Amino acid sequence: MPTLTFIEHNGTRHQIHGEVGQSVMQAATFAMLPGIQGDCGGACSCATCHAYVDEAWADRFPSATGTEDEMLDNVTERRANSRLSCQLVIEEGMDGLLIHLPASQY
Ligand code: FES
Repeated sequence: MPTLTFIEHNGTRHQIHGEVGQSVMQAATFAMLPGIQGDCGGACSCATCHAYVDEAWADRFPSATGTEDEMLDNVTERRANSRLSCQLVIEEGMDGLLIHLPASQY
């Protein structure tokens, strides 16, 4: 069961356990983590799961395309490593995955 680390905009760190096959958004919301809301339940239509994948982990996920890329155009403070965390599937070998949370979702 991979351990994921989330860092809030103010530097507060949270470590939670995720399950392989689960999305990063699901892992975060099941753990009631602040900063990830997931209002649409993972349908890629709300962008309240916006997060920044740490640079060291960015190449572990396929690039944002299509609807995810379009939705990311509407978030506050889009960056090169911006992702919708509902589209990031946890896989084996992702123990230590590091995610940064935007200030705008608090
Ligand atoms: S949960 Fe709505 S876009 Fe990710």
